[in-house]
Amino acid sequence: MSEKKTMLSGIKPSGDLTLGSYLGAIKNWPARAEEFDCYYFMADMHAITVRQDPAALRRRTLEQLAQYIACGLDPEKNTLFIQSHVRQHAELGWVLNCYAMFGELSRMTQFKDKSAKNADNINGGLFTYPSLMAADILLYQPDFVPVGEDQKQHVELTRNIVQRFNGVYGDVFKMPEPYIPKVGARIMSLTNPAAKMSKSENEDTGRVTLMDSPAVIMKQFKRAVTDSDTERCVRYDPENKPGVANLMAIYAAVTGKSFAEIEAEFEGQGYGKFKPAVGEAVVETLRPIREETERLLADKAYLEGVYRAGAEKAAYVAEKTLRKVYKKIGFVAR
Ligand code: TRP
Repeated sequence: MSEKKTMLSGIKPSGDLTLGSYLGAIKNWPARAEEFDCYYFMADMHAITVRQDPAALRRRTLEQLAQYIACGLDPEKNTLFIQSHVRQHAELGWVLNCYAMFGELSRMTQFKDKSAKNADNINGGLFTYPSLMAADILLYQPDFVPVGEDQKQHVELTRNIVQRFNGVYGDVFKMPEPYIPKVGARIMSLTNPAAKMSKSENEDTGRVTLMDSPAVIMKQFKRAVTDSDTERCVRYDPENKPGVANLMAIYAAVTGKSFAEIEAEFEGQGYGKFKPAVGEAVVETLRPIREETERLLADKAYLEGVYRAGAEKAAYVAEKTLRKVYKKIGFVAR
């Protein structure tokens, strides 16, 4: 067994990955493999809790896998797989459903939000989403689960399930800790700097995706909102000039320059030079990622090799946990 601690995270293939997700999070993931044994999976089973177009789901799942690899997640150093390929998720998910309480599932904010948004499809899966997520996590006995703010409540619920289950059957599951990743840049919408750059909406919401062409990226930056003050200069002032501050944060993240350096670079130039300069820097940052993603997507055999090997490795670990659980709860061994 490796001495490294284990980390696991699921990524729902709904919506396109954006510049915001890259600079805010994904960019920092490859380095984790030095310190942790990392598992990442495409959470297709979670995605179907809201209605999906089958062809789009399939395409997104593969595209997302390819994009993560293109962003530097090395399949030799990380275990990358597709959730539905490892049957143990569904199996343990069922068991954990019987250890998750109706009351606690009812209190989940995401369930309440999504039921409000999908009033015509409040299905059982949407309700029991957190028990499947608990299964995803507990199958691999990870030490850490990196999640965003919106998923913390689900990790807390997982911890309650661990306590309840271990309380009855002894030390079966390792207690996972939520891991709050080092914050990368917090990137906001280019058209509304008060809102986070969203992944699931259309391009009119001021987002840039990892697969956007250079022309689209340039267009998005040229029409980015700056601010309405009369000063019209590049100065870091998030309170009074949130649009400019966001563009500066993006430029800083992709060039490594400090805010002071950026202010000096555009001194006396207004926004006409600044906005396309940020756009060009973003184009050059995303170009290798997009090209590598396209190359990987064209190489079906390679991608298949990655997700098969990942699922095989994941299933081996998952099966050990599942057997232990089945035995503890009184299922007859096969
Ligand atoms: N629920 C997570 C999300 O919406 C995705 C996810 C599924 C996940 N299973 C997980 C995250 C297990 C961490 C661990 O983003």
